Amino acid sequence: MSLDIYHPLGRTGLRVSRLALGTMTFGPEYGWGCDEATSRAMFDRYIDAGGNFIDTADVYTGGTSERWLGQFIREAKLRDRVVLATKYTHNVANKARDPNAAGNGRKNLIRALEASLTRLGTDYIDLYYLHTWDQLTPVEEVVGTLDNLVRQGKLRHYALSDVPAWYAARAKTLAECRGLEAPCALQLEYSLVERGIEYEFSAMGQELNMGIVAWSPLASGLLSGKYKADTPAAEQNAGRLRTTAQVATPALSKFKPRNWEVVAALEAVAQELGRPMAQVAINWVANRPAVSSVLLGATQLAQLEQTLPALDFELPPELEAKLDLAGQLPPIFPYAFIDTMAPRMHGGAKIEEKPPRYGQRLAQRHGGWR
Ligand SMILES: NC(=O)c1ccc[n+]([C@@H]2O[C@H](COP(=O)([O-])OP(=O)(O)OC[C@H]3O[C@@H](n4cnc5c(N)ncnc54)[C@H](OP(=O)(O)O)[C@@H]3O)[C@@H](O)[C@H]2O)c1
Repeated sequence: MSLDIYHPLGRTGLRVSRLALGTMTFGPEYGWGCDEATSRAMFDRYIDAGGNFIDTADVYTGGTSERWLGQFIREAKLRDRVVLATKYTHNVANKARDPNAAGNGRKNLIRALEASLTRLGTDYIDLYYLHTWDQLTPVEEVVGTLDNLVRQGKLRHYALSDVPAWYAARAKTLAECRGLEAPCALQLEYSLVERGIEYEFSAMGQELNMGIVAWSPLASGLLSGKYKADTPAAEQNAGRLRTTAQVATPALSKFKPRNWEVVAALEAVAQELGRPMAQVAINWVANRPAVSSVLLGATQLAQLEQTLPALDFELPPELEAKLDLAGQLPPIFPYAFIDTMAPRMHGGAKIEEKPPRYGQRLAQRHGGWR
């Protein structure tokens, strides 16, 4: 299985599986997660398949995700082998309305890291993410503090999740210029129906050597094919999207006409390939520019069994092109403008239209590590 082929994350020596295990579903607190026995079975299965990259956050399921994961790793004696990633920013336990007990600032960062280390039962984190941009804390404060924590041995690497591209570019460049440890990766939502990162992040990831770790590759289950376009939300098959449909804002709702068109295109391609829709959707994300790894989410072992082989086949170019087209974003300024100006910039010479895909480049260079 392709999980035991490892690639470096961004410009680091840290080798990770191209499919990571997401643990946001570990715990019943959100009303759409799973129990401890199922979480443990999924952890064991992922490790058995050769996977080494596991993702959690301090905020997931109110801390249960970190606690269970720490326990599974400890009992399996796998702390050295696993690349353990967690995140800080949000703080659900912040009942005292303390503004410094959440957000990206140094005070919360250090508090949150210590709390995660305790819940996980470890003395270091392999990959520590800023979870979400707080629109407030100066980037210098974040980068300086994280650099310091790497030097102290509490973190091996750090990365950014859910930030604007300009913020990530500034963090990376500033850190490099100042001789500080720089962020090595970006964790961002990316799927056939959520392609907003293609405007800025894909090129930035390649240019700045930051690996993209894609979250919600199935758009929270929409791309598994179990939800139907002509069915009201309350009557859909059971799953996270049915549970959350009542509270999802229109902006975040996955049940919208444009998405149903993408689901139909995916269904047609999956049928032609004779593969489950979920596998095809994940395979497509994993092979997009700059993507280092894709996060698998599941609430049942059978779901994980279905998605683990998602990279064990190649999408034929003509089918991949159909998927590319289905959810394609409209051209926007400045890129549309720059494209029209391109012939005037190269003296009429032919230039390569697109850089080779990140995955292909790595494969050519290294052939992967087993
Ligand atoms: N950085 C961030 O802000 C952020 C945000 C979100 C997630 N994440 C990370 O990304 C990970 C994955 O995110 P996600 O859970 O949203 O991923 P996803 O792949 O979009 O959705 C996973 C969900 O889809 C359903 N599903 C999965 N496989 C299926 C199958 N074969 N058949 C039918 N249904 C299936 C399950 O939900 P049901 O059983 O309920 O239908 C499962 O929990 C998380 O665990 C977390 O580590 C990060």
